[in-house]
Amino acid sequence: MLKKINRRKFILFTAASAVTASAFGWAIAQNRKTSLNSPTPSDFNPPTSSQLYKSASGLLEVDIAASLKPVNLAGKTAYLLSYNEQVPGPRLEAKPGDTVRIRFTNNLSEHSNLHYHGLHVSPAGNADNPFLNIPPKESFTYEFTIPKNHPSGTFWYHPHHHGMVAGQVFSGLAGLLVIRGELDEIPEIKAAKEEFLILQDFDLDYNGNIQPPHHMAMMLGREGEILTASGQVNPNLSIAKGGLLRLRIVNASASRFYRLVLEKHLFYLIATDGGAVETPVELKELLLSPGERAEVLVRGEREPSQYRLLNLAYDRGGMGMMGGGMGMMHGGRGMMGDNSPENPQVLATLTYQGSVSNLPLPQKLIPVEKLPQPKTVRRFELSMAMSPGMGMAFLLNGKEFDPQVVNTQVKLNSIEDWELVNIDPDLMDHPFHLHTNAFQIISRNGKPEPYRAWKDTVLVRGGETVRIRIPFRDFPGKTVYHCHILDHEDLGMMGIIDMQV
Ligand code: C2O
Ligand code: CU
Ligand code: CU
Repeated sequence: MLKKINRRKFILFTAASAVTASAFGWAIAQNRKTSLNSPTPSDFNPPTSSQLYKSASGLLEVDIAASLKPVNLAGKTAYLLSYNEQVPGPRLEAKPGDTVRIRFTNNLSEHSNLHYHGLHVSPAGNADNPFLNIPPKESFTYEFTIPKNHPSGTFWYHPHHHGMVAGQVFSGLAGLLVIRGELDEIPEIKAAKEEFLILQDFDLDYNGNIQPPHHMAMMLGREGEILTASGQVNPNLSIAKGGLLRLRIVNASASRFYRLVLEKHLFYLIATDGGAVETPVELKELLLSPGERAEVLVRGEREPSQYRLLNLAYDRGGMGMMGGGMGMMHGGRGMMGDNSPENPQVLATLTYQGSVSNLPLPQKLIPVEKLPQPKTVRRFELSMAMSPGMGMAFLLNGKEFDPQVVNTQVKLNSIEDWELVNIDPDLMDHPFHLHTNAFQIISRNGKPEPYRAWKDTVLVRGGETVRIRIPFRDFPGKTVYHCHILDHEDLGMMGIIDMQV
């Protein structure tokens, strides 16, 4: 039995948890003294390059093993979950038309599996099937074909075993999956220096172990104090005066949002989750909720010096009403957290090195199809409710995830509009994610989206209604949509969609 929650009940509920929660806050405060997230520019450490596996003659074949191993995190030993003992995991690169074959071995002590976030590939059989379960000590071979017309872009893989996703991703399991193609061939983009930034946050105890989450942290969505970009704290990125830097950024954190700015520089957005936009979009800041990706160009147009890539405070809601002892909690609407305007978090440092004659920005990228307005409009309500004993349930259309129930039946080769409604204006933001088929954002609260782009994860703020347009193409079968604050997904905010001819 689930009871609808309103703001007043939520206050009462959270107040009841305040004793333990402030203990949690104390732990964070203690931790901060030894925080590894130093705001001073780093010594010259470039982002870690994970091992790179590229397809050859149409095939990408790779062994990936998940295990709990000591890895080096910011110069300290941390006991993380990793793919092939690397955090982030190996970088996989394929091209449209390639076959991808991944032999996955689960060396964890719990169930796991793999999901290929953002890829337009089959969700069935041994392809991108989120319902597969690979028990401890077992192996499984995933195989799928990247369609010939698949967009080039920045995708990623991570575990997807319901109930354990947040814990496993928060412990380090994530890796890049890059599709190389037409975007990479545009001359101005080819001329840019490429860097990948996989954003992950960690919460370690003094012995380097991941801290088990507090109940409250799970409801908010767990966040860690140690921020890393491609496995490093504050790595150095270099740019030549006059040059271009292509940053390919993935929010691979379980719950943390990143509101990115680069001191004294603009971002020129060239790609979103599902690949290129039509023409670069100039941005002062870039907000990435969990699961989202963006590619931006940065111009080496300033005085040679060092500039910080900052994560500014963003209020993703939920805890504004808690006050007092909860001041240390992360992510609360109206809370101080660990990220104040005077002391923003530093993710990386850009350093000028050398110079080249001015490289131009590209004018045109890749056309983004204009989808016709469909007749079918579905409504999805994102909400929270009290559940007996457990605390809070996270719901889609009033229901918790049930692996036996198909919530949404769609016709293959059709287009639908979905209205995503976050019905709790005072509560939390939810980044909504759909597997298999990318979509376009049409409007937010009735206001048309300023440019067309392919997305697979869209932020739905508290009280907001977001309309998206989805073409269901190529692949029949069942898959899922869910909140990409992975604790919310694990706590029920997920549904099953069946796509059939
Ligand atoms: Cu990246 Cu179903 O998730
Ligand atoms: Cu996904
Ligand atoms: Cu959520």
